[in-house]
Amino acid sequence: MRLGRTFELLRTCANKFAFELLRNSVRYNCAAPKRTRQRMSSIPYDFGTGRSDPATFPTEGLKTAAAQVIEREGDHLSDYPGKLGHPGFRQAMAAREAGREGVAVDPDHLVITNGSMQAVTLTAEALTEPGDAVLLEAYSYPGTLSAYRSLKLDLVGIPLDEGGMRLDAVEDALTRLQAAGRTAKFIYAISTYQNPTGFVMPKQRRLQLIQLARRFGVPVIEDNCYGDVHYEGPVEPAMYALDDGADQIYLCSLSKILAPGFRLGYIYARPPMLDRILARRHDAGGNSFAAAVVAEFYRNGIAGHAAVTTPPLRRKRDLTCQRLEETAADLCVWSKPVGGLFIWVRLPDDVDRAKLAELAQSRGLSYLPGAAFHYQGADVPYLRLAFGHLTEAQINEGVPILARCIREARTSNEAIGFDSLFRLQDKEQSQ
Ligand SMILES: Cc1ncc(COP(=O)(O)O)c(C=O)c1O
Repeated sequence: MRLGRTFELLRTCANKFAFELLRNSVRYNCAAPKRTRQRMSSIPYDFGTGRSDPATFPTEGLKTAAAQVIEREGDHLSDYPGKLGHPGFRQAMAAREAGREGVAVDPDHLVITNGSMQAVTLTAEALTEPGDAVLLEAYSYPGTLSAYRSLKLDLVGIPLDEGGMRLDAVEDALTRLQAAGRTAKFIYAISTYQNPTGFVMPKQRRLQLIQLARRFGVPVIEDNCYGDVHYEGPVEPAMYALDDGADQIYLCSLSKILAPGFRLGYIYARPPMLDRILARRHDAGGNSFAAAVVAEFYRNGIAGHAAVTTPPLRRKRDLTCQRLEETAADLCVWSKPVGGLFIWVRLPDDVDRAKLAELAQSRGLSYLPGAAFHYQGADVPYLRLAFGHLTEAQINEGVPILARCIREARTSNEAIGFDSLFRLQDKEQSQ
């Protein structure tokens, strides 16, 4: 048998890791289904939504896992999951984390949530009262902004550079708050493949951020939603792996590696912080069935599945950048992310942004405008392109359409006059 021979060859080469990858991807059929049941967006060129590639959704592998779980776990599923949630899922995710970070991760300090969005909300509810100040990147995930706004938090935007949140600005903000007799209740950082910019905070800066947060007695919430969507270069460590104190809170998700429809995310926090967070949970726990199926699917780790999902995303990242280069190099500057699902594009200042939105919509193209990510909702000359769930043909056609819309929405013919992703205003300390 061909497969048998392949396994033998891998075994004799003692390439254990490659063997595991292949075995897992066969066992749970991580490969993309032959007939792709891709749910097409009603928008022909939907660069708006941050989703992974539907063509790599592992239908067969999940069917097998679901059948096994129903057969085996009836007793478990007919009970309430409890505040931490399905033990098998927590073990699988602890193994995921330990594998990436190279530190021990206790499954009993891991809480299953309804997507990482519930984790964002729950941690903020546990740590704040209305009016409290929290620090976050000046451009951040709209879901987080919306949750924090509805909790009536005082958002302090921290300017970014390619290394993420700028620490001089963090220190200034914490000092200013302290001088006013206030303490920030936490620092929220999307430090890896940041949404929307794609930036990554290097290890050295993470260590400094931990020191700074400790000096001011402020917990850090690190949202690592895109953690395993990695294309190239070093994988920077999560902050909980650099600091084993209770003030490190870590959020992660299955939405970007598997599918958002499972609504599976988790919080990793050590006691006493863990108890503080759990005390705010009143929903009788997360979906045990979804958790059990995913635990079964990832029984032998996530590497086999990630090896299937990442290459098409990397190709789409490359194609989007290439088409921008071919059609918009004289117009815009953009980020080239080493992971995650987004490209952050700076527009010429003279683009009429309302007209751009109208033109794009009339030509079947969507994107998210910079204002959606700005911590104060300011109308800034940026947009975010999400490339994960589009087909390569859609990217090929869509980017030039966007470039034409930008050109037509300009109010002058002047040269753009910038070669950096950063505006002067964005370099200044936010108030
Ligand atoms: C930074 C960040 N956090 C959290 C989420 C929420 O993801 P989910 O609730 O699907 O896990 C997203 C989704 O795009 C995100 O970008």
